[in-house]
Amino acid sequence: MKLFLLFFLILQLHALNLTFSLSPDGLSLLALKSAVDQTLHASAFSNWNEQDTDPCNWSGISCINVTGFSDPRVVGISLSGLNLQGYIPSELGTLVFLRRLNLHGNRFYGSIPLQLFNSTSLRSMFLYGNNLSGPLPPSTCNLPRLQNLDLSQNSLSGSIPRDQSKCRQLQRLVLARNKFCGEILDGIWPKLENLVKLDLSSNEFNGTIPADLGNLKSLYRTLNLSFNHFSGEIPASLARLPVTMSFDLKHNNLTGEIPQIGTFANQGPTAFLDNPPLCGFPLRKPCSVNPQKNNLVNQNRT
Ligand SMILES: *[C@@H]1O[C@H](CO)[C@@H](O)[C@H](O)[C@H]1NC(C)=O
Ligand SMILES: *[C@@H]1O[C@H](CO)[C@@H](O)[C@H](O)[C@H]1NC(C)=O
Ligand SMILES: *[C@@H]1O[C@H](CO)[C@@H](O)[C@H](O)[C@H]1NC(C)=O
Ligand SMILES: *[C@@H]1O[C@H](CO)[C@@H](O)[C@H](O)[C@H]1NC(C)=O
Ligand SMILES: *[C@@H]1O[C@H](CO)[C@@H](O)[C@H](O)[C@H]1NC(C)=O
Ligand SMILES: *[C@@H]1O[C@H](CO)[C@@H](O)[C@H](O)[C@H]1NC(C)=O
Ligand SMILES: *[C@@H]1O[C@H](CO)[C@@H](O)[C@H](O)[C@H]1NC(C)=O
Ligand SMILES: *[C@@H]1O[C@H](CO)[C@@H](O)[C@H](O)[C@H]1NC(C)=O
Repeated sequence: MKLFLLFFLILQLHALNLTFSLSPDGLSLLALKSAVDQTLHASAFSNWNEQDTDPCNWSGISCINVTGFSDPRVVGISLSGLNLQGYIPSELGTLVFLRRLNLHGNRFYGSIPLQLFNSTSLRSMFLYGNNLSGPLPPSTCNLPRLQNLDLSQNSLSGSIPRDQSKCRQLQRLVLARNKFCGEILDGIWPKLENLVKLDLSSNEFNGTIPADLGNLKSLYRTLNLSFNHFSGEIPASLARLPVTMSFDLKHNNLTGEIPQIGTFANQGPTAFLDNPPLCGFPLRKPCSVNPQKNNLVNQNRT
């Protein structure tokens, strides 16, 4: 019995030693390891060895030395396309030097933990192609250096948080193929002065397209609002967007005439298809010269 107790004590000490020898960043990563179903994916973590002093040699992990810290700090997690099944643990929020979080192309489920937005060094968050649900946290823009946020192809829902004003560094915002809904409000977009790509396609957004999207001077790549429920007229202000930008507004409920100025002159018809009430070049459906007369004609027909 005494022997057994002693053995137990030694085991305990041993465990304590392990806890103290692996760096805190390493311990946070072990939470990720245990959040993933190991019976399916043991090989992805085969060299994530708890007895290491730091996690810098673990597959998918990158570190840098930071002055003032004895342990090297984790700056990158890249575990994409591995079909990992699990949830994203809140412990990742303690990785205060983390810059890149690439977990795309897996089967992560559950919500995006709020604590993740405490990792204030994050520049890129690629979580696309998983099975994440729940809302886009209002604290997303607490990440002052965030440049790339791609959450597409998940089951995220709810509306876009109103306070995006702190996301000044954001360059690519891709929320396509989720279940986001509601209106995308005026007033948040002009602050995203570095945005080059905005893809909100294949969601359930409705209401009108905010006119101040036209103030996004750096949006020279993509504005994809296709496959939503946007209605109303296309704001003429969008004509001010850079001419290199490609629009995609198809499959909505937009009405009236396509503005015939600025950036609109460079768009092909596919950008506007499947908006039954929309008319004008480059669609083959001409608008009447006098819209009021057109209305009268329509009324007479019905
Ligand atoms: C604690 O770990 C270090 C290195 O990992 C090892 O050298 C030492 O013997 C361990 N101590 C105990 C009590 O296990
Ligand atoms: C990192 O791991 C590889 C095997 O996965 C090993 O060959 C190498 O020595 C390790 N390097 C360090 C610094 O631990
Ligand atoms: C961090 O510094 C140690 C020496 O203190 C060195 O062996 C190691 O290669 C450095 N790691 C990186 C990622 O620069
Ligand atoms: C973020 O960190 C602060 C201080 O470091 C802490 O008070 C807060 O609870 C953390 N938030 C989350 C969601 O973990
Ligand atoms: C995604 O999660 C839902 C439940 O939230 C589940 O029914 C579905 O099978 C999951 N899909 C995949 C591809 O894992
Ligand atoms: C816009 O998004 C839709 C659906 O997500 C996609 O099929 C289409 O190719 C995208 N358009 C552009 C111009 O990238
Ligand atoms: C947009 O959809 C929401 C429900 O998601 C609804 O309450 C709201 O009235 C809709 N707005 C418009 C302009 O259709
Ligand atoms: C367009 O609006 C009509 C009625 O306002 C609605 O029935 C239809 O579902 C809408 N279509 C799309 C693609 O949102």
